Amino acid sequence: MKILLIGSGGREHALAWAISDSPLCDTIIITPGNPGAAAFGKLANIAADDIDGLVSLAKTEAADIVVIGPEVPLVDGLSDRLEAEGISAFGPTAAAAQLEGSKRFGREFCSRHNIPQPQWNYFTDARAAKAFASTLVGGCVVKADGLAAGKGVTVCDTTEEAALSIDEMLGGRFGSASAQILVEERISGPEFSAFALLDGKDALWLASAQDHKRAFDNDEGPNTGGMGAVSPSRFETDALRQQIMEKIIQPVADGMADEGMPYRGILYAGLMLTDKGPQVIEFNCRFGDPEAQVILPRLQSDLLSAIYTTTEGGLQNFAMRFSQDSAVTVVMAAKGYPGSYDKGSTIIGAETLESASGCLVFHAGTATDEDGQIIANGGRVLCVTALGASREQARAMAYQGVAEIKWDDGFYRGDIAAD
Ligand code: AMP
Ligand code: GLY
Repeated sequence: MKILLIGSGGREHALAWAISDSPLCDTIIITPGNPGAAAFGKLANIAADDIDGLVSLAKTEAADIVVIGPEVPLVDGLSDRLEAEGISAFGPTAAAAQLEGSKRFGREFCSRHNIPQPQWNYFTDARAAKAFASTLVGGCVVKADGLAAGKGVTVCDTTEEAALSIDEMLGGRFGSASAQILVEERISGPEFSAFALLDGKDALWLASAQDHKRAFDNDEGPNTGGMGAVSPSRFETDALRQQIMEKIIQPVADGMADEGMPYRGILYAGLMLTDKGPQVIEFNCRFGDPEAQVILPRLQSDLLSAIYTTTEGGLQNFAMRFSQDSAVTVVMAAKGYPGSYDKGSTIIGAETLESASGCLVFHAGTATDEDGQIIANGGRVLCVTALGASREQARAMAYQGVAEIKWDDGFYRGDIAAD
């Protein structure tokens, strides 16, 4: 099969690596990709948000399946456009991707299908939003309705803080993404990310993970796309998995099908394990980044066969095997990230996927200079993943892998998977 893979992060490097391992895979084209992913296929230079360009590339290349890594092209309808051309897409339609693209849509969907979630309401009027916020005991959370690159959520301790966020967001802080906002009850408990495959009807559990969103150790500093992750989550048990499948994942598959928006692709449910059971914080319509870099190395089954089965609707009779090992990934980011940072500094030790200590070095924001040397070219630059019989072993090995990389302009958290 000829696979077109969309995206340029560590997630896509990990996807290219896992897909290329399949006997079903003949060729992978990755666009725009990165120097790490280039080892597994041919790079093209169409951006991940250029829907027309991507459809035309898929047609010229006669791709059998287009695997869509990031959320933006999904929300913008790339799957619909490909399906209209008779090309299989791995990733939900624009209608189904609203689960991520509009937080209000996700909340209303959960309300309609009795999927457990915090109390919430949506507003375009600041006065009404503040009045609702003041009825919520124990703080609240203010969210932009639309995609805001992971920055559109403020967790507030006081009604004053909430009022400030409400004014900022409705005042246009995230443009049209925050023209409408949600105010939610602030729930508490450990966060738990659940990943499943949905084929439009059936759902198959994939794995759990936990990511570390803040930039610095001890969960300090600004929110990022994720500074590291571990899979499985320390909270995963058979009973919890079953509860999440029964109360959250399968109801999403059933509800989307019943509403005429069958969901095909990966569902990433961001949950909080409250004392009333797991509740939905948010849905994402794709793999996480860096969660893919810990889930895929644990996968022992053929990823491409799972992708093909998902697009064809045969998950009911499909099974997947994962290693019992833990995987830990540590993200190396450019100093200054998630704010402004320099590009172009030299990185030594990331030339091959496998490091000397046996870690997997996934590229994200890298490029090569005219001498073929790897240089930094983004905020999150590398993800160093290790597998180990225990979380502690995986963690120790991942940090050994990080220590082997020489890059003066980078930083990383020292406490990934330490809690
Ligand atoms: P999101 O972008 O929706 O994942 O939100 C970012 C972070 O905000 C989550 O990882 C949670 O830590 C926190 N958060 C979001 N919604 C809530 C909520 N209703 N209660 C408590 N924390 C929340
Ligand atoms: N690491 C969080 C995300 O991919 O949304």
